[in-house]
Order: sequence, then structure tokens, then C-alpha cells
Amino acid sequence: MYIGRVHFTGVSRLKLIPINKPLLNEEEVKAVTKVLRSGILTSRTRSGSEVGMFEEAFEEFSKAKYAFAVNSGTTALYLSLLVSKVNRGDEVIVPSFTFVATAEAVVLVGAKPVFVDINPDTYNINPEEIKKAITKKTKAIIPVDLFGLPADVRSIAEIAKLRDLIVIEDAAQGHGALYKGKPPGCFADLACWSFYASKNMTTGEGGMITTSITEFSEKLPAMRTHGEKNEYVSSMLGGNFRMPEMEAAVGRVQLKKLPEFLKMRERNAQRLATKLQNINDIQLPVTPMGYKHSWYLFTIRLRNDNVKKRDEVIYGLRRAGIGATAYYRVPIHLMPFYRKFSKTHLPNTELASNQVLSLPVHPGVTIEQIDYISNSLRRLL
Ligand SMILES: Cc1ncc(COP(=O)(O)O)c(C=O)c1O
Repeated sequence: MYIGRVHFTGVSRLKLIPINKPLLNEEEVKAVTKVLRSGILTSRTRSGSEVGMFEEAFEEFSKAKYAFAVNSGTTALYLSLLVSKVNRGDEVIVPSFTFVATAEAVVLVGAKPVFVDINPDTYNINPEEIKKAITKKTKAIIPVDLFGLPADVRSIAEIAKLRDLIVIEDAAQGHGALYKGKPPGCFADLACWSFYASKNMTTGEGGMITTSITEFSEKLPAMRTHGEKNEYVSSMLGGNFRMPEMEAAVGRVQLKKLPEFLKMRERNAQRLATKLQNINDIQLPVTPMGYKHSWYLFTIRLRNDNVKKRDEVIYGLRRAGIGATAYYRVPIHLMPFYRKFSKTHLPNTELASNQVLSLPVHPGVTIEQIDYISNSLRRLL
């Protein structure tokens, strides 16, 4: 199975060691079958439902007071902005070096994404650049835990506090990451998680919002069901953003397995880092003190190379059956739809998007395959 949004034509997909791959077995099959046999496929209430039990388990995992399951990570971002009252005319500060959903959610609520540059070592949004981008219209900041390395959310929260801004952490890639010993979301007002099929844990499609703010917790359950506080009476804007019972059943099993998945990712990442050290001109992933990487993606930078050379390396790896992928080859501020929002030049973002490539370290990759990946890369360089 191939999971990845960039497709290279002419390279057999089936033979690839994919960049990411969901790991499922009989346990998930049993959990889904149980839901199917029960005939209860969707639930609007927490008590006794798969969704409710998944949320409870996720509250414990994320150390947040409240968790609300929704039907995607994009929905989680959208509802977080909506519940924070981000509206038309507001500005929201986001990185451009991320998956498009981070900025897309801002546009969906009618606000303007303001793109800010990254730190070239961590690839995460740079708090100093955030300070410069704040205006009277700024309402929120969305730091992203890119590739599984948490953003510097405490510094960002301090900046936000001075200006009364909301911090929504995009933790779509952050399951298992820690920042100052705490899971994503602990320094933010809200955190948004994705369970897309490529993620460290999956429900196929799905997402979660975590928060410890009671005011948000009172609105979010209604917002994901047409704004209904009482059945068939809408008291606010909402929609159908619910997670189905089958997905929640898969999510509960995957969350239980997550520690084991993370160990495998860590093992693979450490081995790959050891094997690739001392190669000139490769920047290996950096994990600063006080951070724990979730190893959603193992991303290296070919320091002195241009986009053509980087893509030649990717083609070479693909020919060798390795699903190397450039995340994110077009930063959002340069995408056709998003250009109209700013004319900004983001030098660190633009350079990174031309130089990075990610290598597979998911739990389905064996140590022998890691050695094969590193040997193939050495040969190509
Ligand atoms: C950083 C980031 N934000 C948001 C999303 C959106 O999540 P989803 O695909 O579940 O809508 C993703 C994942 O695809 C992501 O990687």
C-alpha cells in the first residue's frame, strides 16, 4: 500500500518500502466487527459509545481535560478556529512549511492566513518571526509540530498571552512527541490531531481536538453535530463533523498499540541517524534538548543541493524501491490558491522545500531495510 500525496510516475508503487503505512491486525478487525454486529454505527452521546471511550483514553494520553473526536484533522482545525471565534477579517499566523490543511482551515472560517518563516534547524515556525507578523487583526497562531518534532509552543504561548491571542497547536503529526516532558497541546489553548492513514496511529480518516478550556468544551460537542445542544434544535453554527463508531473502535486499539509503534519508529530513526552520520552535506533531523520526536517522518536536508539534485536522489531511491518523498515541496504561500494572501518571501521555508527529503522509519520497516535505505542513499550521494 502506498501512502503519500506526491506521486512519481514511472516508478512501480507496489515494490516500494512506503514512506508510511498503517499497521493493523486481527485486533482492529475484531473491534470493527463488534461494532458492525452491534448495529450501532454512530453515536451522539458519549456514554457507552466507542467514540466516548476513545475520547476518554485520548484525554489520558494527551493530559488534556477534554478530547472531542471528529471526522478529520482538517475538521479539528476548522472547529478549533470556529470555537475561538476567528472570523472574516481576522488574521491567523501559520507556517507555510506544513501540510496545506493548516492554512486551509483558516480560509474556511473566512480569515486570512499570515505566513511566517521557520527555524532552519527544526523546520518549525520561528517565534521571533511570529512577533514581527502580529498586527491589530491577529486573532490566533497555529504552530505545527512538523514531522513529529514539537514547535516551541511555550515561547509562542508567551507571545500570544501578551496580545490576548489564541494558540491552536497543529499536532496532526505529533502523536508520541513530548515538549518539556508534556504531550502536544499542554502549552496551547487547543490541539488538533489527525488519524489519517499515514499517521503514527490511524482510524483511516479522523481527528481529535484536545483542550483544557471549559468554555470550549461546552461548545465543541454541539458544533460537531449541527450546533445542537438539544436534539434537532441548533443553537449555534455547526455541521456533521462526527467520528463514526467503527473508526473510534479502530482508534482505541491503535492508541493502545501506540507505545510499541513509537519504540519501533525511535529504533529505526536512531539506526538511520547513526548510519547516515558523517556524510558531508546532509543535515540530519535535529531534536533540541527538552524535546521528544514522534518520528512521524525522518527528514534530511541535502544542504548544498538544489531542487533538481534533490529530486534526482528521490528518483534514485524510488528506483531502489524506497518511498522517499519531499514533504513539502511547494510551501503553502507559493501554492496557486494561496498566493493571493501574501507576497511574502520566506527564505528558510523556500530553501527547505527545495532541499528536504523524508525516508521511511515507520514500524513496518525492518532493521535490514533501514540498512538498505542508508546504503542506497550513500551510494546515490
Ligand atoms: C500538519 C498537518 N495538519 C493537518 C492535517 C490534516 O489532517 P487530515 O488529513 O486528517 O484532515 C495533516 C494531515 O494530513 C497534517 O499533516
